[in-house]
Amino acid sequence: MLRSLIFRSMDAQTAHERILSLLGRVDQRDWVQHAAQALYRRMASFESTCVGGVTLDFPLILAAGFVKGQGFATEDEALFAVERDENIIPGWHTMPNIVGAVEFGSFTRYPRLGNAGQVIWRDAATRSTQNRVGLKNPGARAASLFLSKHPPKKPFGINLAVSPQVTDPDQEEAELVESFRLFLDAGVLPDWFTLNLSCPNTEDDPRGYQTEEKARRLCRALLGHLGSTPLWVKVSPCLSPEQYGKLMEAFAGEGVRAVIATNTLPQPTPDDAQVTGGVGGGRLHAAALEATQHLMTARREQGYPVDVIGCGGVIDAKSHQDFKDLGVQAVQYWSALVYQGLWAYAVILRK
Ligand SMILES: Cc1cc2nc3c(=O)[nH]c(=O)nc-3n(C[C@H](O)[C@H](O)[C@H](O)COP(=O)(O)O)c2cc1C
Repeated sequence: MLRSLIFRSMDAQTAHERILSLLGRVDQRDWVQHAAQALYRRMASFESTCVGGVTLDFPLILAAGFVKGQGFATEDEALFAVERDENIIPGWHTMPNIVGAVEFGSFTRYPRLGNAGQVIWRDAATRSTQNRVGLKNPGARAASLFLSKHPPKKPFGINLAVSPQVTDPDQEEAELVESFRLFLDAGVLPDWFTLNLSCPNTEDDPRGYQTEEKARRLCRALLGHLGSTPLWVKVSPCLSPEQYGKLMEAFAGEGVRAVIATNTLPQPTPDDAQVTGGVGGGRLHAAALEATQHLMTARREQGYPVDVIGCGGVIDAKSHQDFKDLGVQAVQYWSALVYQGLWAYAVILRK
């Protein structure tokens, strides 16, 4: 009932902003957190699973991009907001209490305001979402400072992305390592870090940016600093089977524990056919399954010790089963929040 009311009365972006604003307010309300925890204890009685070096209460993780924080123009502004005790990462407290495991981010080294105008759409007929948020986030320094003051419930992950405008490989690597170090030095110790190799809605070409060479270089640089925290990598849909094979070889060689398949699928946005936005949900599902299948084949045939986490159109029991049939131990979801509500994990697992 609530969904049809929301769908009728507001567009996807307004609904998203209102939910985040509500989450930002209730993050500080103890009674809401206690109620969310009590509900979680009642509802989350599923079989636990271990994936990518992390033990989960059940095999569903909220994907990156929901609890990622506000955008800022400069690092000083973001740090000032943290000093003023503003909630710059709405949902940091409430979402883990409601849904369990959450991947925070993506965070880039420096804050980003993201793209202006309409940047989130929904396509209810196919239960899809589309976005060109453009990596809006507070930047790694302010995010790490905020999360050190407000440690999230475990297990949680932190997703880091290379800054889209950075093209120099040395700078790219240096910024990523600096971001990792900022979290670790602030004492923010997630259960996993994810390297987001795929940023489809920032006008980059997601294919050209996920070469084996780049994957090896960045993973090696990060794993040199991570200690025992597992590193996961998130990739795009629609790469060639050979490229998925090469990436798996690189991940296995460098010690990556899991690969998330996939990020969104770039397609023209509803408002302007010249501008692309990343599609998630139903319209991504087939491509994400195909990517997962290629990665699982490489894993099986070559014996790579890299887990595959499905992501793309997990909306109900059937779409979840599609990934399970490929042998994955866990999946991530985002669009299911829109179509099944905040307790989507329970709807998906109980059916
Ligand atoms: C509004 C929005 C913002 C997103 N932002 C990020 C992000 O910052 N980093 C990331 O790795 N994925 C991001 N994603 C992609 C999701 O994590 C997920 O990979 C994608 O939506 C596919 O899952 P789904 O089919 O369940 O929606 C975003 C998705 C949406 C809808």
